[in-house]
Amino acid sequence: MNANPTPQDRSAGPVTGWWTEAAIYQIYPRSFADSDGDGIGDLPGITARLDHLVELGVDALWLSPFYPSPQADAGYDVADYRDVDPIFGTLADADKLIAGARSRGLRVIVDLVPNHTSSAHRWFTAALAAGAGSPERDRYIFRDGLGPAGDRPPNDWQSVFGGPAWTRVTDADGRPGQWYLHLFDSGQPDLNWDNPQVREEFLDVLRFWLDRGVDGFRVDVAHGLIKQADLADWREPQEILSGNEIDKPRPPMWDQDGVHEIYRDWRRVLDSYDGERILVAEAWVEPAERLARYVRPDEMHQAFNFEYLLASWTAPAQYAVITRSLEATDAVGAPTTWVLSNHDVVRHASRLGLPVGGGRPNGIGIGDPQPDAALGLRRARAATLLMLALPGSAYLYQGEELGLPEHTTMPDEARQDPTWARSGHTQRGRDGCRVPIPWEADAPSYGFGPTDARWLPQPPLWAEYALDRQRGVPGSTYELYRTALRLRREHGLGRGTLQWRESGDEVLSFRNGGLTVLTNFGDAAVPVPAGAEVVAASATLTDDGRVPTDVTVWVRG
Ligand code: GLC
Ligand code: MG
Repeated sequence: MNANPTPQDRSAGPVTGWWTEAAIYQIYPRSFADSDGDGIGDLPGITARLDHLVELGVDALWLSPFYPSPQADAGYDVADYRDVDPIFGTLADADKLIAGARSRGLRVIVDLVPNHTSSAHRWFTAALAAGAGSPERDRYIFRDGLGPAGDRPPNDWQSVFGGPAWTRVTDADGRPGQWYLHLFDSGQPDLNWDNPQVREEFLDVLRFWLDRGVDGFRVDVAHGLIKQADLADWREPQEILSGNEIDKPRPPMWDQDGVHEIYRDWRRVLDSYDGERILVAEAWVEPAERLARYVRPDEMHQAFNFEYLLASWTAPAQYAVITRSLEATDAVGAPTTWVLSNHDVVRHASRLGLPVGGGRPNGIGIGDPQPDAALGLRRARAATLLMLALPGSAYLYQGEELGLPEHTTMPDEARQDPTWARSGHTQRGRDGCRVPIPWEADAPSYGFGPTDARWLPQPPLWAEYALDRQRGVPGSTYELYRTALRLRREHGLGRGTLQWRESGDEVLSFRNGGLTVLTNFGDAAVPVPAGAEVVAASATLTDDGRVPTDVTVWVRG
């Protein structure tokens, strides 16, 4: 459990490369821009909007999955890893997008989903047809059921989306057969990573996309690929977060040591290509020392810092998580990767408007306690300005540059996330952060597409957040992001060094890249450092130039 660096780690020296300090923008293709008016965003829609990303000032984009898929989990159920789903376009459209990004100096990261395939993948169809004990079934995790009739699941694991993590199949003769494991939806059977064919296949998939020019991969559920060999019962509700504090046993399905060997193999493939191609882990692993093992020198380049995303909005909590994160990644010679929002969590403009210290809801609906929208946005802007001043790479999620809130009043009948049905309608799920983006206040679907069609409803007041209402408007969230990203680049903040300043329990303050950064979490306004020039502020200062509650400033001098 100890992540002390080996002598080898220490001698690795400071890591350099575009990704160590990049601002990377996550595109959720279904909801970014729809070119053909079918209500679902697509690759040509993204290509047509690339100039937005240049104007915003990010370095790279990460695309959530666009591969052929029955869409049981919005494309995280992949039926073919080497093609594009017709709803998103064609392989030629993917090539155009990659080329369009490259010509603008933007890097492209694609999503890789190795923990499970879709149940529509040819391998799974073959596994069903081939029957128990076959080599085809060995690519997945099939087991006989318990009890004389085999009618009880092989163990007590629960799906992350709710309900049992096992589904029983029907054999060719119509009789009930074996069970297969799916940590997520039943349409997402888990692969068996002890099978050499599975390993070979993904090495080949990596090469397929590297050959097409991508700069890296975001690795879905990177902590899940290897399961404890005995598939022992766990007896705890299944969460995607491994939650393995040092003194607690590690869940048998998450963060098993065997995953690291897989990433070392992948790293060798990436390193055999020119340019600096990267791997970023989606691994819900705590504590930070355990997560840092994914970014040791011969493994992945980055791992999303979800402990940071989950931290409370108080000065001590933020200080602690930032310090811990930097120490843990320093110990393995890696930079840190910050993130506040993505397609799986309540948007931070709403999350931070919930009572401090409150639980982390899996979606919010009508009838639930509603976030305070103004407070949430104020804190979200302060949080982003704080994050963008930290050394390391930062991930942004589409729409946060507009200050978009979660859709917290979506009609339940519109929900698409399998979580809603699988949890027996107890968890609303993630649709509220996946709503199509508003580009133009007065256009159909707010400019998302040429028609009124959209796969999820947009909330009331979406016009207020539209890009065309914010562009060029001083003080808008969009202009705040642009300013911050420009200054971050000019001052080399991403590759800088953080030095804390003494500031008490209600204020967080540090220096980086010649700037002083200060966030006020307390009730009373505080002065900016004497003689300094404010270069960015997440909200207006008081008339006498002090920093009010829930505001971050960057000052020079
Ligand atoms: C990851 C994805 C999430 C998906 C799950 C299963 O957590 O980010 O959207 O549902 O993996 O693939
Ligand atoms: Mg479309």
